[in-house]
Amino acid sequence: MHDQVQRYYGETLTRSADLRTDACCDGAAVPAALKPLLAEIHPEVSERYFGCGLVAPDALEGLRVLDLGCGAGRDVYLLSRLVGEQGEVVGVDMTPAQLAVAERHRAYHAERYGYGRSNVRFVEGRIEALGALGLPAAGFDLIVSNCVLNLSPDKAAVLAGAYELLAPGGELYFADVYGDRRLPAALAEDPVLYGECLAGALYWADFLALARAAGFSAPRLLEARPLAIEDVQVADKVAPARFCSATYRLFKVDGCDGGAADDGYTLTYRGSVPQAPEVWTLDRDWRFRTGQPVAVSSHIERILRASRFARHFAFDAGGGDPHEDVLAASDPNPFATAVACQSASCC
Ligand SMILES: C[S@@+](CC[C@H](N)C(=O)[O-])C[C@H]1O[C@@H](n2cnc3c(N)ncnc32)[C@H](O)[C@@H]1O
Repeated sequence: MHDQVQRYYGETLTRSADLRTDACCDGAAVPAALKPLLAEIHPEVSERYFGCGLVAPDALEGLRVLDLGCGAGRDVYLLSRLVGEQGEVVGVDMTPAQLAVAERHRAYHAERYGYGRSNVRFVEGRIEALGALGLPAAGFDLIVSNCVLNLSPDKAAVLAGAYELLAPGGELYFADVYGDRRLPAALAEDPVLYGECLAGALYWADFLALARAAGFSAPRLLEARPLAIEDVQVADKVAPARFCSATYRLFKVDGCDGGAADDGYTLTYRGSVPQAPEVWTLDRDWRFRTGQPVAVSSHIERILRASRFARHFAFDAGGGDPHEDVLAASDPNPFATAVACQSASCC
């Protein structure tokens, strides 16, 4: 399976336009603030972008970031800019042809950003064996990945390895493709179906279970969009399954059951995340308006208290005294909430 994927991304595809579906293609509307930063990225790197979402959360200044399956490095270089010169970004990928493109533009980006030295490095290797790559245990504040987990034959090992490399309170923030059902194993033998990020896609509910088994907090859904499969042959082979691209955030925080029980906790956002002066977004269901107290579950309270966002909130511990209102539960099913992208924001 690794060889098949390596050939697909090292030889079959040379640019985003070679894709046969819009699965591995970014349909996320890019926030205005990021557009000029993406425009700064070297064209050869951008041309070989095969992501399916935007993996640029906020509050990144100074962070140590790891990108799993970084490809030619588009997200690595975007994050390099966002973490600033004091931050660090490491990209891991198993395909030498992709890494060669990424590697040859390190100096270009450091110079473009005005950094004294590059804050980026690339490591060749498989993401199922992160422990063998010499990366520091608990050494990353944020791990991102863009349209890669579906390509791995051992997704549980990837999630477990990511958990080990995250510092306590750290976050896995990633975009990937999911199915609305489990797919027949035989489909994985088709190199196009697999390489196009369909045949290896997890049934979304299986992903939730795998994430919990790896130790993460219950996944929080940020965005979802249905995939369009315009190639009739490809569509016929995978029918009747439906697919969507979804972005989830998972935290390395103990004791998070994902429940929406109201134990009386209240949080007030200070408005201090630079990218979010008025409203800060945790996921699709939870937004925090500056200065407005919000009743939250103990699950959300724990995540935010342990994470890099803690200093941006005032916490009222509540002490097991429930509020009067019932809390809104978050729905992690991407098919329940998927919103088709506008053509202008799709690739
Ligand atoms: C769909 S592309 C996405 C690349 C990149 N994240 C982007 O957004 O352009 C998938 C990438 O994951 C890499 N990849 C797939 N399976 C891998 C594995 N098991 N270990 C390491 N890299 C892997 C491929 O080499 C390829 O570069």
